[in-house]
Amino acid sequence: MARIEWSDDLSVGNDLLDSQHQKLIAMINTLDNESASAEELGEVIFGLLEYAAIHFRDEERFFVDAAPEIVEHHFASHTIFISTAYKFVQRFQNGEALALRQPVYEFLCKWLVEHIQVEDMQYKDAAKGRAAE
Ligand SMILES: [Fe+2]
Ligand SMILES: [Fe+2]
Repeated sequence: MARIEWSDDLSVGNDLLDSQHQKLIAMINTLDNESASAEELGEVIFGLLEYAAIHFRDEERFFVDAAPEIVEHHFASHTIFISTAYKFVQRFQNGEALALRQPVYEFLCKWLVEHIQVEDMQYKDAAKGRAAE
């Protein structure tokens, strides 16, 4: 699977949120390392969950004002992500460890890119529309 690369078409028009997306992408890309130990993998998975929670909090604060019409659906999408990621953590703790590296990597790449391109873009467009009013 190709590594995710940041590009301007992933920009949501907010510097803080863009830099958090860039950091998440960099963290996810560290999973693309076949020689990672189980311990390293665990650290990345836990770190990602922690950082995703911070990002979601900041993003939700932003779009509650900028795009109230998307709040309900977007909250739900973040919640589903956290519960899916948490299931990976449980599987990791139950001993699957290194066998999870590839599935976790693929899930995160696909989820994050699709989420930014589709759902996060909705608040960018809504904020733009409001600014133009
Ligand atoms: Fe989001
Ligand atoms: Fe986001």
